[in-house]
Amino acid sequence: MLNGKRILLIVAGGIAAFKSQELIRLLRKRGAAVRCVLTEAGAEFVTPLSLQALTEDRVYSDMFSLTDESEMGHIQLSRDADLLVVAPATANLLARMAAGLADDLASTVLLATDKPVLAAPAMNVRMWTHAATAANVATLRGRGVAFVGPNEGVMACNEFGPGRMSEPEEIVAAIEALLAKGRPLAGKRALVTSGPTREAIDPVRYISNHSSGKQGHAIATALACLGAEVTLVSGPVAIADPPGLKVVKVESADEMLAACLQPGAVDVAVCAAAVADWKAARPASAKLKKKPGAAPPSLELAPNPDILATLSKAGPKRPKLVVGFAAETENLVANAVDKRRRKGCDWIVANDVSPAAGTFGGERNTVHLVSAGGVEEWPTLAKEEVAARLADRIADHLGRPRPAAAAE
Ligand code: PMT
Repeated sequence: MLNGKRILLIVAGGIAAFKSQELIRLLRKRGAAVRCVLTEAGAEFVTPLSLQALTEDRVYSDMFSLTDESEMGHIQLSRDADLLVVAPATANLLARMAAGLADDLASTVLLATDKPVLAAPAMNVRMWTHAATAANVATLRGRGVAFVGPNEGVMACNEFGPGRMSEPEEIVAAIEALLAKGRPLAGKRALVTSGPTREAIDPVRYISNHSSGKQGHAIATALACLGAEVTLVSGPVAIADPPGLKVVKVESADEMLAACLQPGAVDVAVCAAAVADWKAARPASAKLKKKPGAAPPSLELAPNPDILATLSKAGPKRPKLVVGFAAETENLVANAVDKRRRKGCDWIVANDVSPAAGTFGGERNTVHLVSAGGVEEWPTLAKEEVAARLADRIADHLGRPRPAAAAE
């Protein structure tokens, strides 16, 4: 049930806009209050009057018709909701959201809001599979925007494939799940490590790895979405800092360890960073020069501190939950089970990082969750979905208050 919940429904210009009417009816039947923002293109497919009749509230369409005195300002409109739902979410609106544009009322409220956002994409299959749309969706997921659909099916343009907006019942189910989640980690402190480390050989050269930070950053975002106060300690990555959380940038494993010990006691630590096991024993103070006829210099390595094992050590400051990762190229589960024991952490998220798996730098991941309770195999998922599931499990483990059982 959605009694008392306030939904701001943003209807953009796609043929699926007609389904927004059924969506409103279902939401109101479950006790939600629905307020609509209709884009100019959306008004080509559904009339403000029809939406107004269903919501029993005025329909907002033009930013400049809102005045603080007589109408709700666009900022207030974006805040006076428990959840913003974009249905249909067209390729154009997703692109403007990803770019942070605020050139109409819909994009403005989406940029100004401090509430969760759920998008229900709807577009032609080629638009959905276009690299530009995929990049926009990945950007938005990385900022915590939730998605429902799209479904596969015959499109209005008689093509078949992904791009068809989810059915109103599916969108309602996604809304109920999102709102049921609430912020179970409110008041909890989380530490997440992400990205590679760089171990200097000389002032110019370093040892590193292929970690992009996508998985670690997604986990930091997912924990923040559940209300945790997150400190993200990141090696050098090309992706943007997730909004709304503290980011500490480091280079070497030594710097990463120091940064991890800085925040003081945390409730949960998730070590997703690809930390170099070794560093140069004696980094050169000047660039190593190639000497004609001389043999190449040999590189003596020395061990790096083990951040996960350090955080896992028993003691008054040990987090209640320490989650490590295992990057393996063979014997994944056996190595992960052994790693959990050796490092002393509570859970290990094990993933195959052999080149064929495409885990490093890729958008998707296939993980096994190893804990004292055994080994769980998760399906291949978007890294943001892996992050959302892991954050949910962490919230359960740290004792999320159970939502009141939905009234029958
Ligand atoms: O960043 P992406 O491109 O999204 O790729 C994601 C990922 C593959 C980097 C990520 O999913 C992952 O597997 N991260 C852990 C990589 C790694 O270093 O695994 P490992 O098996 O070598 O280390 C085991 C655990 O010990 C990890 O939690 C690691 O953070 C930690 N460790 C390792 C060495 C060290 N000196 N200190 C550590 O804390």
